[in-house]
Amino acid sequence: MSDKILIIGACGQIGSELTMSLREIYGGTNIIASDIRKGVSELMDSGPFEFIDATNKDQIEAVIHKHNIDVVYLMAAMLSGAAEMNPEKAWDLNMSSLFHVLNLAKAGAIKKIFWPSSIAVFGNSTPKKRTPQQTITEPSTVYGISKLAGERWCEYYRTNFDVDVRSVRYPGIISWKTMPGGGTTDYAVEIYHKAITEKRYECFLSEHSRLPMMFMEDAIKATIDLMDVEELKEYVAYNIGAIDFTPKEIADEIKKSIPDFEISFVPDFRQKIADSWPQSIDDSEAKKDWNWQHTYDLEDMTSEMITKLRNKDV
Ligand code: SER
Repeated sequence: MSDKILIIGACGQIGSELTMSLREIYGGTNIIASDIRKGVSELMDSGPFEFIDATNKDQIEAVIHKHNIDVVYLMAAMLSGAAEMNPEKAWDLNMSSLFHVLNLAKAGAIKKIFWPSSIAVFGNSTPKKRTPQQTITEPSTVYGISKLAGERWCEYYRTNFDVDVRSVRYPGIISWKTMPGGGTTDYAVEIYHKAITEKRYECFLSEHSRLPMMFMEDAIKATIDLMDVEELKEYVAYNIGAIDFTPKEIADEIKKSIPDFEISFVPDFRQKIADSWPQSIDDSEAKKDWNWQHTYDLEDMTSEMITKLRNKDV
């Protein structure tokens, strides 16, 4: 029998596509979506849905028991930009939800956890190019501090309580179905929407801010592949890389399809966050340990984003 899977934060940018992919693979009824708000009809109509506030352990536990859940994907989090505005709330959401799930696994209520980490675990003192798996991690953002602390707690529960918890350090994720919210890499999604609706975009990062990025299909594949590995080899949270580009480079790629697209640059508080993060990622450990390989480059991704968004109401 297939594992019963609960996704917490199933209506968010990654959660929504992860839920649909898992439902395609394992069948709708085995995949329980949950969030504090309802999602789009595609998600609500394709399988069970439960309301869960990720900071509420009783609610998580009740749904785990009700549906005999084996595996939890904890996708609820406050991202980097929003977390700078609400430090304590971000810390509470990002950490308490993780503790609840780790403790439920420790108590034997679930068998396996996926919890996303981020390139935000790195900071100003980290080598910026081809940032290695193991290097200096001195994050300067609330979000990054929560992700680094989360990685250490996952490692702690894995070592001391034999909890099977797995993670990847997502770069900026680009998708056309659900908008991200509150992140520093969100510009790389907004830019496509504005290119189609207004043919202009005011970018909140400077033109040469290079950041690691990934198309959603690749991010979902990484997540599911890592969870499918028989046993984790080495690390709790793996670097995964795909592409890296600057706002100017993505704008130039968009101009190949929309020649009159215009971009301007008005950096805001998120510039400092972007400046503290890697420019590109060395993912050789993920390649070696579980055969990670991305598919989409900037060109493939741009053509898919523009085609899909043109056919959708944005
Ligand atoms: N996309 C995230 C953010 O910008 C990084 O993990 O906050």
